[in-house]
Amino acid sequence: MNNPGVGIAITGSGSATPAQAVANQALSTIVDTSDEWIADRTGIKSRHLASSGESLTELAAAAARSAIAAAGMTPADIDMIILATSTADDLFGSASAIQGRLGASKAVAFDLTAACSGFLFAMVTAAQFIRTGVYQNVVVIGADILSRWVDWSDRTTCVLFGDGAGAVVMQASMEGDRLLSFYLASDGTQNDCLQLPFGFQPHELLPQVSIAQGTYHPITMKGREVYRFAVSKVPEVIEKSLFRANLTTDQIDWLLLHQANQRILDAVADRLHIPSAKVLSNLAHYGNTSAASIPLALDEAVRSGKIQPGHIIAASGFGAGLTWGAAIFQWG
Ligand code: ACO
Repeated sequence: MNNPGVGIAITGSGSATPAQAVANQALSTIVDTSDEWIADRTGIKSRHLASSGESLTELAAAAARSAIAAAGMTPADIDMIILATSTADDLFGSASAIQGRLGASKAVAFDLTAACSGFLFAMVTAAQFIRTGVYQNVVVIGADILSRWVDWSDRTTCVLFGDGAGAVVMQASMEGDRLLSFYLASDGTQNDCLQLPFGFQPHELLPQVSIAQGTYHPITMKGREVYRFAVSKVPEVIEKSLFRANLTTDQIDWLLLHQANQRILDAVADRLHIPSAKVLSNLAHYGNTSAASIPLALDEAVRSGKIQPGHIIAASGFGAGLTWGAAIFQWG
């Protein structure tokens, strides 16, 4: 099957966040920090944290359900579900559980992991299936519950993260291609900058047969290196994508970056000479929700009427791997 005339339309968005919100002030009762330090260095004021009663599957399914409804479709119309996450409920993957929960019976579903770049990588993956004519209606979800893997006694990381989910519906379109360009990249030589590693004890299973058993260890991060990586690579990848789309920065309606840190958002916008009024930011309320942050900010901007059909969005994800990428697309 190959149908190169098929384009992409992004027709609906949805999001979901856990019920509990935790303000900076409350965090200062468990680690040596302050609202002032966190807000000044990151722009974060509060974050939502999933309780033991809220699963990743449930949050992701709620976001997907809302995106499907916004696209004017039903779960039975969906051909494929891609879940970008680093924190699946099940290491075998959570996408199929979401498919079951939605009742999207004809959809094939799988997980994809590329940390905070995951949603962007998943969008581009979905686009390949649509452009070749294999699938017409794909749900792309970004969802993470990093609070499960944060060391809540480490003030250098615990203040940064929050939990959430966001989703979009991508559809085949014969009326032009609204995914205008993309560019993806990885650099494994810097893998140690951000990790959520498996930690194990060797276990002598049989004489001369040793295996490793354990669990994942909390997130470790070299904050300054990650900052430097983001402010140098993100403008570059957006410029490369704009070049591929034959566009200039002044033709962008919205800059939609992974919501890691307001200082990163400001520095990237500054380097690209994009005015702050065009920079989408919801960090203050949610913190860094990893794979969820781009679709969560997108959905809020669509529902508030900021993003209108036809608007051009430059999106960029970046994070562990290291991985990064950009996509230029037109909404609606
Ligand atoms: N509260 C109070 N003080 C703190 C806190 C805190 N939560 N965290 C660190 N400090 C202290 C440090 O101990 C240090 O104290 P010292 O000078 O006595 O040693 C001081 O503040 C400065 O620490 P730095 O790490 O140098 O602070 P910096 O200005 O670099 O800010 C930050 C840290 C916000 C993490 C910054 O490096 C950054 O934005 N990095 C980008 C990383 C990022 O956004 N990661 C998110 C996940 S990755 C991703 O999504 C791509």
